[in-house]
Amino acid sequence: MEINWVSVVCPWKAFQLHVLPLLLLLVLLRCSSPCQCVVDLDPDDKALLLAFKSRVQDPSQSLSSWVGTNCTSWSGLTCENQTGRVVSINLTNMNLSGKVLPKLCKLSFLEDMNLSRNNFTCPIPLCFGNLVSLKAIDLSHNRFLGVVPDTLMRLRNLKELVLNGNRDLRGLVPGWLGNFSTNLEKLDLASNSFCGEIPESLLYLKPLKYLDLGNNNLSGNLRDFGQSLLVLNLGSNQFSGTLPCLSASAQSLNILNMANNSIVGGIPTCVASLQALTHLNLSFNHLKYAISPRLVFSENLLVLDLSNNDLLGPLPHKIAETTDKSGLVLLDLSHNQFSGEIPLRITELKSLQALFLSHNLLTGEIPARIGNLTYLQVIDLSHNLLSGSIPLNIVGCYQLLSLMLNNNHLSGEIHPELDALDSLKILDLSNNMISGEIPLTLAGCKSLEFVDFSSNNLSGTLNDAITKWSNIRFLSLAQNKFNGNVPNWLFTFEEIQTVDLSGNKFSGLIADGNFNISVKFNKRDIGRMSREPFVAMPNVHVRVSMVVTGSSESSFDYHLSSTVGIDLSNNLLHGEIPQGLFALQGLEYLNLSHNFLDGHVPGLEKMSGLKALDLSHNSLSGQVPGNVSSLKDLTLLNLSYNSFSGFVPKKQGYWRFPGAFAGNPDLCVETSSGRCETESIPMVPGKSFHDGVVEGPISVWVFCLSFFVSFYFGIVALFCSARTRNYILHMKV
Ligand SMILES: *[C@@H]1O[C@H](CO)[C@@H](O)[C@H](O)[C@H]1NC(C)=O
Ligand SMILES: *[C@@H]1O[C@H](CO)[C@@H](O)[C@H](O)[C@H]1NC(C)=O
Ligand SMILES: *[C@@H]1O[C@H](CO)[C@@H](O)[C@H](O)[C@H]1NC(C)=O
Ligand SMILES: *[C@@H]1O[C@H](CO)[C@@H](O)[C@H](O)[C@H]1NC(C)=O
Ligand SMILES: *[C@@H]1O[C@H](CO)[C@@H](O)[C@H](O)[C@H]1NC(C)=O
Ligand SMILES: *[C@@H]1O[C@H](CO)[C@@H](O)[C@H](O)[C@H]1NC(C)=O
Ligand SMILES: *[C@@H]1O[C@H](CO)[C@@H](O)[C@H](O)[C@H]1NC(C)=O
Ligand SMILES: *[C@@H]1O[C@H](CO)[C@@H](O)[C@H](O)[C@H]1NC(C)=O
Ligand SMILES: *[C@@H]1O[C@H](CO)[C@@H](O)[C@H](O)[C@H]1NC(C)=O
Ligand SMILES: *[C@@H]1O[C@H](CO)[C@@H](O)[C@H](O)[C@H]1NC(C)=O
Ligand SMILES: *[C@@H]1O[C@H](CO)[C@@H](O)[C@H](O)[C@H]1NC(C)=O
Ligand SMILES: *[C@@H]1O[C@H](CO)[C@@H](O)[C@H](O)[C@H]1NC(C)=O
Repeated sequence: MEINWVSVVCPWKAFQLHVLPLLLLLVLLRCSSPCQCVVDLDPDDKALLLAFKSRVQDPSQSLSSWVGTNCTSWSGLTCENQTGRVVSINLTNMNLSGKVLPKLCKLSFLEDMNLSRNNFTCPIPLCFGNLVSLKAIDLSHNRFLGVVPDTLMRLRNLKELVLNGNRDLRGLVPGWLGNFSTNLEKLDLASNSFCGEIPESLLYLKPLKYLDLGNNNLSGNLRDFGQSLLVLNLGSNQFSGTLPCLSASAQSLNILNMANNSIVGGIPTCVASLQALTHLNLSFNHLKYAISPRLVFSENLLVLDLSNNDLLGPLPHKIAETTDKSGLVLLDLSHNQFSGEIPLRITELKSLQALFLSHNLLTGEIPARIGNLTYLQVIDLSHNLLSGSIPLNIVGCYQLLSLMLNNNHLSGEIHPELDALDSLKILDLSNNMISGEIPLTLAGCKSLEFVDFSSNNLSGTLNDAITKWSNIRFLSLAQNKFNGNVPNWLFTFEEIQTVDLSGNKFSGLIADGNFNISVKFNKRDIGRMSREPFVAMPNVHVRVSMVVTGSSESSFDYHLSSTVGIDLSNNLLHGEIPQGLFALQGLEYLNLSHNFLDGHVPGLEKMSGLKALDLSHNSLSGQVPGNVSSLKDLTLLNLSYNSFSGFVPKKQGYWRFPGAFAGNPDLCVETSSGRCETESIPMVPGKSFHDGVVEGPISVWVFCLSFFVSFYFGIVALFCSARTRNYILHMKV
């Protein structure tokens, strides 16, 4: 009966349509007959399963269907259709936790056990070795702990052993894994805490196709594998030695990951004879020497990551074959010491979606033909010695999401035609010598989220193009020659978290615009504080990542870490500071120093997220801004060289920031003895900020700051004379 069912259904297409009614009739007849459509669960197995269930925590009620005797209705179970014995148990991702009872080991007909993605916390039960029919066992992504029990070597029929993602699974990789089963095809021990070497027996285990030992603490010299593997992941361990040729896998190996080890020597050309290879990751090792021109991978290779090594010499002219249908999708040669020009032939890699060549010593111009690579989504050529201008043809890469050309010697102007890049999210041109204005047409780059034009030779006023970047999160135009007013729309982007206009020639008033719109400025994100250390303003970090999933599908992502802050320092701004700025609860950083701002500063109490405030070197007057005792995160405060006056009692909390008031001659600060100390001359000017500072990137900032402080201390005498002051101010303009 059962066999009929199968043979009727399978050759479905062979039947003509007129057979269909007959077929349906057959099916109906079969199912209405009192045969074993369903088999009752074996009562012994049922009792074992209920005992198991009674001891696991099941907050999501995943096992609530485990009632009655109908095996098909018990979730995760498959029973043998004649005997009702449990042959497969699949409890993956059911939010179960607690211990796995040894009772489970009496399900003696079990062939598949999948407990993955739960929260079981116990050693792997020794008695699993009794389940001699098991073909696959998957305990991945739980919290199993201890060692792999030797009893498992009795599982002679095992094809798959998957134990990855149990951080407390430790000890040596047992030697018997190489010869206990003659069927073992898949061994996944990744992301555990195994140490020691790869047992020799594994190198000769013939049926093995899939070996993942990545992300453990394994060591030893790399050896060659004797079987034909499909997947080999040894990444993120401490393997040393040189790269083996893996010639036994020349026709089979798809994925080879040896990244993040201590592999030395050159890249042997024999790895290019791995004909089936689609993913090769050798990044984060100590590979060195030039790449041989004979190292040319097949057109099957999709991902090549050789980044973060000590490779040198010219970039390879041809690294992989290409055909119309396939070729490299991702090429990462960044963080090496490649020199010379970017070879033109790189523009023949037509399928390329991501090109990372940053942090090398590349010279010459960006090849114009890069615009032929119309699938490119990411170009990162940053931190090289490239010169010339940004080629106009780059607009051919119309699908670009990220263009990073920062830290080079690029000159020329920004082409108005770049507006064709309307998907662009990240545009980093900082630290070059680019001049001219921001073209109005860049309004067309509507998707921009991250724009860094800092440290160039850009000039002109801020035009309305920027107002169209409605998704902008980070905007830096610092250290250029921009002038004109700070427009009042500047702070009105919903997603904005960093605005840096420092070191320009912006003048006029800071418009009292609408500061209420930015979510980041206004809402204090408590989670953020613990997640990320405070990054001082210039230390923005954006990390682009691209994952190739299918044969040509990829997914783009980027992580931005930057301070929630506003920096308008070192400009020519006049007038009062708008009150609205002092109501921003989310703001971590505010720097308005080195301007000509005057007027009073209201209390800072509302700025509960504040970590650094610098209003120094202005002409601010009146009382100091209220009580700062409640601002627990404030680590850096500088109100020096203004004209604050009055008396600062100890209880206002400023004692945490010695020196913060230097150069305010009319100010009295209460000392521990209760006396009043005038702040005309700072006691130890350079030292003043070190006390409040912990560590990390901020210390660089503090260094610069203290440098400025001592520098100004040096010329404070000069400033006393009105003539010199005018002279110096004139120079600054
Ligand atoms: C998993 O269980 C926890 C309690 O242990 C519960 O808070 C959570 O919502 C559950 N998750 C799912 C997806 O059911
Ligand atoms: C057993 O359960 C399955 C699925 O829940 C259902 O289709 C079937 O009718 C049930 N059989 C009996 C005899 O209750
Ligand atoms: C019942 O089991 C037999 C042997 O295990 C198998 O060949 C057959 O396909 C099964 N029938 C169903 C309906 O699962
Ligand atoms: C195991 O269960 C999960 C979740 O219920 C399901 O997605 C998956 O397809 C099952 N796997 C097998 C091999 O039956
Ligand atoms: C696993 O359980 C531990 C406590 O036993 C709990 O802290 C943790 O959040 C749980 N993890 C998941 C993914 O449910
Ligand atoms: C266990 O189940 C998960 C989810 O269905 C699946 O991805 C995994 O391949 C299964 N493990 C085995 C060994 O079949
Ligand atoms: C596996 O090999 C070891 C020695 O290398 C041997 O002692 C053991 O008997 C072998 N086990 C099996 C199941 O062949
Ligand atoms: C990794 O192994 C080395 C010895 O090989 C040991 O010193 C180190 O503590 C281990 N690290 C971890 C995280 O277990
Ligand atoms: C490299 O491996 C170490 C552990 O061995 C891990 O902590 C680190 O995150 C890995 N680095 C990368 C870039 O994957
Ligand atoms: C290569 O491995 C490194 C280290 O684990 C990882 O950070 C990187 O994302 C991998 N490269 C690719 C293209 O997946
Ligand atoms: C590549 O670019 C060059 C110059 O930009 C152009 O002449 C050539 O036709 C392009 N080739 C293809 C295949 O698009
Ligand atoms: C900066 O731009 C100006 C024109 O705006 C030009 O005269 C000057 O030479 C440029 N400086 C550098 C270093 O490129």
